[in-house]
Amino acid sequence: MDTQTTQASAAPPVIRREDYKAPLWQVPQIALEFDLDPAATLVKARLTVTRAGSHDRPLRLDGDGLTPRAVSVDGKALSAGDWRMDDGVLIIALPGDDHVVETEVEIVPASNTQLMGLYASGGLLCTQCEPEGFRRITFFPDRPDVLSRYDVTMRADKAAYPVLLANGDPIEQGDLADGRHRARWVDPFPKPSYLFAMVAGNLACNADSFTTMSGREVKLGIWVAENDLPRTGHAMKALKDSMAWDERTYGREYDLDVFNIVAVADFNFGAMENKGLNIFNSRYVLADPETATDPDYDAIESVVAHEYFHNWSGDRVTCRDWFQLSLKEGFTVYRDQSFSADMGSPAVKRIEDVRVLRAAQFQEDAGPLAHPIRPESYMEISNFYTATVYNKGAEVIRMMALLLGPERFRKGTDLYFARHDGQAVTCEDFVKAMEDGGDIDLSQFRLWYSQAGTPRVTVRPSYDPESGALTLAMRQTIPATPGQDVKQPMAIPVKFALFDPATGEKHDGEEVLLLTEAQMETRREGFAQAPVLSINRGFAAPVIIEAEQSAQDLAFLAAHDDDPFSRYEAMQQLMIHALLGSIAGGPLDSAAVIDSIRGTIADAALDRSFVAEAVRLPSEAYLGDQMQVVDPDAIHAARDALQREIGVALQKEWRAIHAECARNGFSLSADARAARKLRGVALNYIVASDAEDGPALAFDQFDRADNMTERQAALAILASGASGERAQALAAFYDRYAGNALVVDKWFQTQALSLHPDVVEMVEALGQHPDFTLSNPNRARALYAAFAANQWGFNSKDGKGYRMVADAIIALDKLNPQTAARLVPPLGRWRRFDDERGAMMKAELERIAATPNLSKDVLEQATKSLA
Ligand code: PHE
Ligand code: ZN
Repeated sequence: MDTQTTQASAAPPVIRREDYKAPLWQVPQIALEFDLDPAATLVKARLTVTRAGSHDRPLRLDGDGLTPRAVSVDGKALSAGDWRMDDGVLIIALPGDDHVVETEVEIVPASNTQLMGLYASGGLLCTQCEPEGFRRITFFPDRPDVLSRYDVTMRADKAAYPVLLANGDPIEQGDLADGRHRARWVDPFPKPSYLFAMVAGNLACNADSFTTMSGREVKLGIWVAENDLPRTGHAMKALKDSMAWDERTYGREYDLDVFNIVAVADFNFGAMENKGLNIFNSRYVLADPETATDPDYDAIESVVAHEYFHNWSGDRVTCRDWFQLSLKEGFTVYRDQSFSADMGSPAVKRIEDVRVLRAAQFQEDAGPLAHPIRPESYMEISNFYTATVYNKGAEVIRMMALLLGPERFRKGTDLYFARHDGQAVTCEDFVKAMEDGGDIDLSQFRLWYSQAGTPRVTVRPSYDPESGALTLAMRQTIPATPGQDVKQPMAIPVKFALFDPATGEKHDGEEVLLLTEAQMETRREGFAQAPVLSINRGFAAPVIIEAEQSAQDLAFLAAHDDDPFSRYEAMQQLMIHALLGSIAGGPLDSAAVIDSIRGTIADAALDRSFVAEAVRLPSEAYLGDQMQVVDPDAIHAARDALQREIGVALQKEWRAIHAECARNGFSLSADARAARKLRGVALNYIVASDAEDGPALAFDQFDRADNMTERQAALAILASGASGERAQALAAFYDRYAGNALVVDKWFQTQALSLHPDVVEMVEALGQHPDFTLSNPNRARALYAAFAANQWGFNSKDGKGYRMVADAIIALDKLNPQTAARLVPPLGRWRRFDDERGAMMKAELERIAATPNLSKDVLEQATKSLA
């Protein structure tokens, strides 16, 4: 058979936002009984159903891979003719408006490789339901606008599964015959099925407590394998800090008597906010200085906070349908970003968040998978847990917070929570609450929810010496994206300041101007000489600014701007100018860059963590984003050369920083962490300068480190070079940590990211390493997602990188479609490269799309990427 007809006939249906219909049946109560066993788990469900409105439609219960063993209504077993199955859905005609429907199914957690529904991980049994995993556990209207009270009874072998956890509060437990035991959990808060969770296993608990603002004591538990207990302290601190912060900042108090977190080794995403029972990828729970880097510590703090904050922004107030995903995710990311900023350095946090936004979201917005933060359609909703929905969604909330100011923003969120507590609502409901509570008109602002694509804002200052006036001419354009050829002008907050180049002083503070037209002009007076423009301060709007700024102005801002983000940005722009100039065939003009770096490291008033950010070169991928056609080899060569020149010119400075930072013993204080970060940057420049003792110095840091931050930094530097120390360090690292899965992931990832001429062959070999497996998502991503993010290696001219990733996608799709689909977007960037590379990438996408029995996850990503 011709593959095209196979695809066409099997094409999964497209779900559209405009087709939303309210549920025909509600399920106010559900009682679940589980007889747990990895090989065969019996699931009995008792649903109290009520007809919503007057209609004569049957009850439809979603199922995925389920076969009903028994179905009964109001206690009477139905015979085969009284129900039917349609594409997995169980359909039952019901005579009245209120019934009790019972079903029984058997599922096999041990063979669940998708990690959706009930699955086995290590010795545990655990669940993942968002977005549509509950239908793999039992028959149910598996959509977020059906809210139910859950009563869950678990039965399992007591020796293998001594701990039994579910949502809500523990009600009773006891022993049963045959070495089994049981536990019953009741969650008083109605919730959608995607928030259901359950865990059974041999787990140890880091137990603590938190007293809420109204004086209630909440029992906190972080559940992990016994030998991981010493690594849970940081997550527990993050949890307690989050609980206090949400009370302080949003007036949100926790609402159950217990809050549990469980760490599992096999998990598709970062973590999951199930009511009262958050389930985490273990990499976002476990940390000690020996095995986790400082950025790992930060990631744990922010993910713990994120999932905790969902208790209000997600659980108490949830989404009406999956098109509203950004309602909970954009807001919750904004909340966790604000929390992390408050816990550490707001300036550095903003720089990091913008770097992530630009690397992941701007690329997505510029490619074939671009979609608005509130998408209009999908084939597979799992493909929409994207940087756009999450990170751009957070930027949209941040802009509203800016426009409203802190007090009115808080009034808006208070109104949102009060108005919609216990409901499943839409993004529109959120915006309306902001308007009503914050007293603002957001009509035009709503375009941020419906229009995809990163706006480009051109700002042209012109100074008239005669009148002493400055005119800012601004223009916005929003590029066409799939399905959206024509765009309307958006409401874009433009935050700017003007500096006097003579004194370094700011004129009249900073301003926020709302750009609402395609073109606008604004005039400011009273300048004795042309002021220097500092634009999009704090990265207030998620846009690309096109302002032709001279190297002089950039150097001025890099030295004087009092907005740390803009100061960082000026340095980045200086570096980009130098690099693009050399890539275009000109000389590498490094003098201004070197001067600015020298000035920055000498400025004792600056936080060292900020300095480390500011003096680092932009990534190869970000440089690629600045080019019409990405030239990975030229970018690599130019960046390498600039790194070397900076290394040579400032050798003394780098040596001093490296030596000085080494002097203090290990601590997790902000200063110590900043010093470690800067030390890593310094070591990188020393090794890049081709100093003869560079690799030995790196190996010495690697070998003597008493913490993972410094050890891993040195390893990464060595991995990108050709020294004899490279193999030695990699072998030593592996030997030291073999058996610690999270650290072995780092070993794979560091090599996959390395800027080494043979990285393709090395990654290929690592795919055959005995520790490599596609069935653990962390391990699969450590090798292939990391490699696909390595612009120079992945885009190697011979196309081997593309083929290797495509092979991995095809193989992984058979086990875990969600995780496989997340590897597709890098291949979808084929239009950004030269014709030869583009053709090879396309050919791989075509090969993927033509693979028989492809999941709809990968099919959607591959076909959209080709369009
Ligand atoms: N809702 C989770 C979060 O953002 C992410 C997630 C999605 C986890 C789907 C698992 C599956 O916190
Ligand atoms: Zn989330």
